[in-house]
Amino acid sequence: MCGIVGALTRGPVAGQLVDALKRLEYRGYDSAGVATVENGVLGRRRAEGKLRNLEAKLQAAPLMGETGIGHTRWATHGKPTEGNAHPHMTDEVAVVHNGIIENFRELKQELMADGAVFTSDTDTEVIAHLVARELKAGHDPVRAVYHTLKRLQGAFALAMIFCGYNDLMIVARQGSPLAIGFGKDEMFVGSDALALAPFTDEIAYLEDGDWAVLTREGVAVRDRSGKAVRRPVTRSLATALLVDKGNHRHFMAKEIHEQPEVVGHTLASLMDLAASRIEVPALPFDFATLNRLSISACGTAFYAGLVAKYWFERWARLPIDLDIASEFRYRDAAIEPGGAALFISQSGETADTLATLRHCREQGQRVLSIVNVRESSIARESDLVVPTLAGPEIGVASTKAFTCQLAALACLAIAAGKARGHIGRELEAELVQALAEVPRHMAMLLHDESPYEALAHTLSKARDVLYLGRGQSYPIALEGALKLKEISYIHAEGYAAGELKHGPIALIDENMPVIVIAPRDDLYDKTVSNMQEVAARDGQIVLVSDADPLSTGCAIAAALKVPTVHRFVAPLVYALPVQLIAYHTAVFMGTDVDQPRNLAKSVTVE
Ligand code: G6P
Repeated sequence: MCGIVGALTRGPVAGQLVDALKRLEYRGYDSAGVATVENGVLGRRRAEGKLRNLEAKLQAAPLMGETGIGHTRWATHGKPTEGNAHPHMTDEVAVVHNGIIENFRELKQELMADGAVFTSDTDTEVIAHLVARELKAGHDPVRAVYHTLKRLQGAFALAMIFCGYNDLMIVARQGSPLAIGFGKDEMFVGSDALALAPFTDEIAYLEDGDWAVLTREGVAVRDRSGKAVRRPVTRSLATALLVDKGNHRHFMAKEIHEQPEVVGHTLASLMDLAASRIEVPALPFDFATLNRLSISACGTAFYAGLVAKYWFERWARLPIDLDIASEFRYRDAAIEPGGAALFISQSGETADTLATLRHCREQGQRVLSIVNVRESSIARESDLVVPTLAGPEIGVASTKAFTCQLAALACLAIAAGKARGHIGRELEAELVQALAEVPRHMAMLLHDESPYEALAHTLSKARDVLYLGRGQSYPIALEGALKLKEISYIHAEGYAAGELKHGPIALIDENMPVIVIAPRDDLYDKTVSNMQEVAARDGQIVLVSDADPLSTGCAIAAALKVPTVHRFVAPLVYALPVQLIAYHTAVFMGTDVDQPRNLAKSVTVE
């Protein structure tokens, strides 16, 4: 979602701001802008669409200021036009903002009644006018911002620069993350450490409610009440991590291919392979005495949670309450005191997941999370974090983070099964062995993508695609449909195969591709019956399975062969074919694979 950068440098800053914004491109955006202060005067350039449009504007009309802010906008209030792009400005101040100002309507009315003239449809512009009003009333920028922050409701991160101040930037964090970077006589801010990686690896994170005054000399941080506070400076790992596509055409392709390695790392961190044992860290609750576990997440992470529900219930006999985070937070769930809640998130910043976590904490739940970004809000607010070791995921459509989440969840499910007396030594060794073989099976699958390229031609012509799966393959069908619609814009739906007759069968004709996720497990024959129902109506079956297509007894339009794996680990391995189907279809159709339209990587608004 929106990305914020800011810098006080020694030399024209606009180019550096654009470079930093490029590192935030992965979050998804639809317009961008920068503003600098040059000899005390504010200047701004903005553009619709990609950063190259902004670069062209800067080339035609450069900004020479050495203090500046930049922004990539993912539209919430108002269309993605240049006029709505950030920074928003008055003569006195320029501001960039991530998040939503919930009370902007009241504030806007108040400001307009006071004579303010608005030039955009955004909620952000009220901030500029509020600060400007305070400055015109004679307050200095620090006081003006302090008064303004008190008026703002919602979750946001802000950065501002001021007319007449060449060495000043004020930033604030209320719900959306903000990192401060320390250079040599230079200072930086960014929505995450990744944005700052080219400039510095010395990073401090603001806490919720913090606001900070930056000059080239350093930073003074204050908390919500105005009290001066210190936030620890840490060395960020982001700089050490190479964020490029390597030999791949897209980040998504690179990330799909990294899975054998990163899933291997994640598994290795949670088990002792030599001893065939699971080794998870000491948990904030005891699986043995737990009555139930509640799991919440959004998007792909939610589907990881759905796989986990099958695992925990089947192998540990532990009842799972699974919720989409945005539903959980408002459904007034009956939460048992002393219970436990598990949150799954790649970014660790998803607004709904974070709000649900806080709600559960308030209700006295012990909180465990599975998170990919170690320094994220969800990680910091959990009793225990089980990190996924996927590395930075840049493609908006989640791939390696999903399989690493599954790897961590599988290990937790085994730990739960052991603690609850349902998994003995022998079964533990069998399941650990099965997990240990997953990276190899993934690598085998990735060896030959030609069947996926061939299938892409057919799928690209489809208007709708149906994905079917039973049991643990049902969440993979849902994830497959999500991946396809996210990046190819083809309408796709995932269904439990047994539900076929209760609706979707009405859609089936010779134009309807039906992708069936069917490992040869104890449910295979049931799924074959559903395939026959599809075949009888001339549906185009694409079989994703280790089984021989002939064994289905029906006409199969295409078969995607998957190695035979232990049924426990099938979701990890079958995730790859559905990713590859979506990826190759999108590439064939020429869509923007890494930054699909309207989507954001890190969804920091409700
Ligand atoms: C967005 C992303 C998805 C992701 C979801 C949850 O919708 O585009 O790929 O699954 O958010 O994000 P999280 O960071 O919490 O896993």
